[in-house]
Amino acid sequence: MPMAKLIQFKRREILGAAGIFLGLQPLLGAKQTRAAFPSFSPDVEIELYARRDRVTIFPDAQTPVWRYVGRLLKGPANTLSDVNDSYLGPTLRFVRGQKVRVHLHNELPEPTITHWHGLHVPMAADGRPSQAIGNSQTYVYDFEVRNRASMNFYHPHTHEATATQLYRGLAGLIIVEDEEERALELPSGAYEILLALQDRAFNKDRQFIYGADMHQSMFGFYGDQILVNGRKQYHLDVDSRAYRFRIVNASNASIYKLAWNDGTPLTVIGVDGGLLNQPENRSYIMLAPSERVDLWVDFSGRPIGSKLTMQSLRFAGLVPEMAQTMVQDDGDEKNEAFTIFSVSVTRRVSESPKLPERLSNIGPLDSAKAANPNRPIPIAIGMGHMRLTLNGRVYEQEGVLSYEHIRLNSLQLIDIFHDHSGMGMMSMMSMGHPIHFHGQAFQILKRSFSGDDVAYATIKDGFIDSGYKDTVLVAPGERVEIIKPFDDFVGQFMYHCHNVEHEDMGMMREFDVE
Ligand code: C2O
Ligand code: CU
Repeated sequence: MPMAKLIQFKRREILGAAGIFLGLQPLLGAKQTRAAFPSFSPDVEIELYARRDRVTIFPDAQTPVWRYVGRLLKGPANTLSDVNDSYLGPTLRFVRGQKVRVHLHNELPEPTITHWHGLHVPMAADGRPSQAIGNSQTYVYDFEVRNRASMNFYHPHTHEATATQLYRGLAGLIIVEDEEERALELPSGAYEILLALQDRAFNKDRQFIYGADMHQSMFGFYGDQILVNGRKQYHLDVDSRAYRFRIVNASNASIYKLAWNDGTPLTVIGVDGGLLNQPENRSYIMLAPSERVDLWVDFSGRPIGSKLTMQSLRFAGLVPEMAQTMVQDDGDEKNEAFTIFSVSVTRRVSESPKLPERLSNIGPLDSAKAANPNRPIPIAIGMGHMRLTLNGRVYEQEGVLSYEHIRLNSLQLIDIFHDHSGMGMMSMMSMGHPIHFHGQAFQILKRSFSGDDVAYATIKDGFIDSGYKDTVLVAPGERVEIIKPFDDFVGQFMYHCHNVEHEDMGMMREFDVE
């Protein structure tokens, strides 16, 4: 990013938020670009460094990465835990109600900023493109953990560089715990497995390849290797008992159709915004970039020595055929099912917890209480003429459309659909877009579809539309109606496609909550 642009963003941010910061420091050469709130006294304080490193993904050569490295200054010792043998940043474990301060230090050769995907935090702590800091600068985030128990993740949100920075390795997991969830005594410790799914392509020197040709930009990046927690051919040895597998799709653009290889149904207990009211079984689950799924996996009936693999099955209708290039070096063929990770049952244990029938008590958000019961906010996804748009516009730092002004503490209906006007021949490129909203999680009211039923039949039973979500995959031909609260914080909060190549190409807008 040119320096002039960066400075321009910062200036606007400071003007927009003047008064709430300790003091305005000089814009250039400032050691710390954001003073902490004077009255904020954190329960948890963390140093987070974004820096270059090398990791061993293949035994024969090291792979250069960019990564987060953390250090706990204050708070419970389990707040930070490193992910073994991985470029992933430390897993952050927060408890609802905690006050958190994070000092982000940029040791990278370009500007960056970190966003806490899924956390409901004030604008100044959201990690927006306009808040990016240059090399050797520090950004201080202060926020209180308001989310219900859930798995979230952190990643860069740098203007036009989210995709490349995420791809180089900058990402980490965030667990939020709360009393409601603790009371359920779900599998924990060694029985709670966190899994971040990513895809990469490597050259012969074992370096990540990221091509930025037009093909890749229009459809997003698709790698030919699956990494789980930064590792190839991920394998788990498990006991014959129940586990909790918490999965996030932290890929740039790839969408997975998750299923056990032996047809065992997947038992879903939670999604992006935490636990569902009751478990739901699915034969497969569609997981788009930034979506999470929380699974109850019971190995109790399985003999010692049995093996199981989590696969991604073939599907149609979400990505144009020509963009699908997944090939595994285990010989799985293009466009066929491939293995994401494998599990072996290696130890017999006699005790196993029981799956609770009731997990939570989420009430439905009531459309009758929405501020716009008959006038949902439109989000028209546009993909044509080499432009990726929302409501016909690309991301702009200024310029809020009339329906992007939101009253603080209101509940809003939002209608997400594909805009095929003026696409002509381009409509054959229609693809699924995972649409993500910053701030509070939302509920999905309704999904409707008109289009290619044969393709749709390969994906439609894999959506989990109950519970709280922060990202919803909108398939070609679909219209999705959601209801979202905008409580607590004024300011600008983004919504965008979480195919991060699309995001960087401008498929991003923001709401102005006032
Ligand atoms: Cu995970 Cu605005 O992003
Ligand atoms: Cu998109």
